[in-house]
Amino acid sequence: MKTHHIWKKCHIGILCIVCAFFIEVKSASSAEHTEHSLKRAVEGNFLMGVALNTRQVNGRDQQATRLIKQHFNSIVAENCMKSSAIHPEKNRFNFADADKLVHFGEENGMAVIGHCLIWHSQLAPWFCIDENGAKVSPDELKKRMRDHIHAVVGRYKGRIKGWDVVNEAIESNGSWRKSPFYEILGEEYIPLAFQYAHEADPQAELYYNDYGMDAKAKRNKVVELIGMLKKRGLRIDAVGMQGHMGMKYPESDNFEKSILSFSNAGVNVMITEWDMSALPNVQTGANIADTVAYRKSIDPYTDGLPDAISQAWNNRMKEFFNLFLKHSNVITRVTVWGLTDGDSWKNGFPVRGRVDYPLLFDRHYMPKPFVQEIMEHQADPSR
Ligand code: XIL
Repeated sequence: MKTHHIWKKCHIGILCIVCAFFIEVKSASSAEHTEHSLKRAVEGNFLMGVALNTRQVNGRDQQATRLIKQHFNSIVAENCMKSSAIHPEKNRFNFADADKLVHFGEENGMAVIGHCLIWHSQLAPWFCIDENGAKVSPDELKKRMRDHIHAVVGRYKGRIKGWDVVNEAIESNGSWRKSPFYEILGEEYIPLAFQYAHEADPQAELYYNDYGMDAKAKRNKVVELIGMLKKRGLRIDAVGMQGHMGMKYPESDNFEKSILSFSNAGVNVMITEWDMSALPNVQTGANIADTVAYRKSIDPYTDGLPDAISQAWNNRMKEFFNLFLKHSNVITRVTVWGLTDGDSWKNGFPVRGRVDYPLLFDRHYMPKPFVQEIMEHQADPSR
């Protein structure tokens, strides 16, 4: 009698454990299913991308890794593929971080974007000068550009969806930037870079990328550049509009005009480095050389963003996001320039040491209200 009683108790116990197990499994899987996701919310419109810093590339920020997998289907290197990082000396490459980034993207089925091949900033110090510090000859620079592009693009052939081939070749007034490449080769360096990139990976998409693309003078020059490349039969798939914005800049009308002008010129458009500073504006644009000294009055939100500013920021971000959706027939990717506010380069540019709030996730890895809204709308479109 007693043993029978114990057995009965045992059975009930086992039954409870099994039930608890199934309840647990079920709730875990339904949580996964209903978990909001930005990439799912914009599916069918454009790829949702994010720039990864080296901590994230090296898996040293697990919370970030989880969010990146959940919300994004495209990645780009914030820094580790720039020439000074990946090719620091003439005969030395450093592919370690870039290799990890590409591998991470592949493992997670993400479109990996290469940023960037030819840029005057974060330029490897040896690239355009000889051992005496004098400018190299045009032929020597062509050879160096070709070697660099072939080595980097060639290494990831077939694994990178597209490359920012030339970055920021145009000044705000619409003239060619007087970069070392321009000084030595004239504007010819641009078609050459596109030619070399295409030779190294004929399947890869090729992009021209720049900031301040809403301005008329720059817009017209970019259109001219697209025409020049196409006339020579060179591949250019898209123009990347960086999208470094502020609370008053750019005007969405001007931004829209540029989207339309570029697509009318026969290329797709990508928003490649989206962020929006919530801080007082001290300069527009993203010209790395234009920095401003710190003063407390231009760093007003060190203890958090006031509600009114946060609301205005969210409204403005939503306005631009809706503009991107409106043109999703030509916009193929929207990439944010960093994951959380704490990661953003805007905390250090154009003023060092400010506390900014420019990205889609806050310092606690929580989505901003407008992001939450987009994702909820996707989960329940009747809202
Ligand atoms: C920025 C990075 O975010 C910073 O970490 C780095 O110190 C400077 O460069 N335009 C570009 C990007 O094309 O590569 C720049 O990234 C921002 C402006």
